Amino acid sequence: MTQQESLIRALPKVELHLHIEGTLEPEMMFDLARRNGIGLIYGTVEELRAAYDFRNLQSFLDLYYAGAGVLITGQDFYDLTWAYLKRCEADNVVHTEIFFDPQTHTGRGILFETVLSGIRRALKDGKEELGISSRLILSFLRHLSEEEGFKTLEMARPFLDRIDGVGLDSSEVGHPPSNFERLFAECKALGLPRVAHAGEEGPPGYVWEALNLLDVCRIDHGVRALEDGKLVDRLAGTRMPLTVCPYSNVRLKLFERLAEHNLRELLARGLCATLNSDDPAYFGGYLQENYLGCARELALSGEEIVKLVKNGFEASWLDEAEKTRWIGLCDIIAGNYITSDAGGVK
Ligand code: HPA
Ligand code: ZN
Repeated sequence: MTQQESLIRALPKVELHLHIEGTLEPEMMFDLARRNGIGLIYGTVEELRAAYDFRNLQSFLDLYYAGAGVLITGQDFYDLTWAYLKRCEADNVVHTEIFFDPQTHTGRGILFETVLSGIRRALKDGKEELGISSRLILSFLRHLSEEEGFKTLEMARPFLDRIDGVGLDSSEVGHPPSNFERLFAECKALGLPRVAHAGEEGPPGYVWEALNLLDVCRIDHGVRALEDGKLVDRLAGTRMPLTVCPYSNVRLKLFERLAEHNLRELLARGLCATLNSDDPAYFGGYLQENYLGCARELALSGEEIVKLVKNGFEASWLDEAEKTRWIGLCDIIAGNYITSDAGGVK
């Protein structure tokens, strides 16, 4: 194991951009299909995996929404979430803020409460049995109308004590944040923190809209922000976090190879970039693999690795005392690995 790898493994980490439906591994998809008496168009796990050869975001979303069709009962959502949390434990992820897409399920006749209670029960067990803290973010589907979003918010209303914030995901181009201004204003009035996918496939203008019209506290992805110098200044000046997902970006063809990803430049421009896995069952790597892959292919220094990890804590919705405690621990661990002169790994 290289020293860089040891450092990554030793650091406690945070995940801030993770779709729970995107952690549905092919094996579990087959198990749940069998359990629920659902037919799949793929005969084997290998055939299914072979189909994970995406051209762009939409070609991924088509498979991702179809795959989620095997999730029916509260226990299914529990099992899905629990499997992800066990993965967090193995990767030394100590805090995670996960998205769920209720409309993907309520549109198939699954009750909002079934989805929510299954996920929430696993998150509670994750805290009690694994010591992993979490937040849950209800994400609206932007390929559906704002009116559909309002209906979903109505379904969520009795359960708002169990929802920590709202997000916006799905097909980005042609579905700008401005389409959801009234919905997000209502969420703000309800006291819900807001995030939005922007600047993944969509232009920097969508990031401006997310900031100015939806009043978000994080941008999900945001890698296209570098195309707009004024936007970079705004993001850097306000320490607006970007939840960057390098494996996702490569698999969805935003960058041809990991070695060409702009992560280092985001950091160099003073942005609060964080590292995340997005939909790891589809993109070939959980959080630790994203760190290890980027460290290797982008030749990240020890300081850059620690910066990414600390940015994650800073950008999280943990309370200030917890943030301070975790960041302090990161500094102690970093001190054991990083040489003070060049920021390299000892
Ligand atoms: N982008 C947009 N919508 C999504 C994604 C993503 O990366 N993953 C799951 N839904
Ligand atoms: Zn995402």
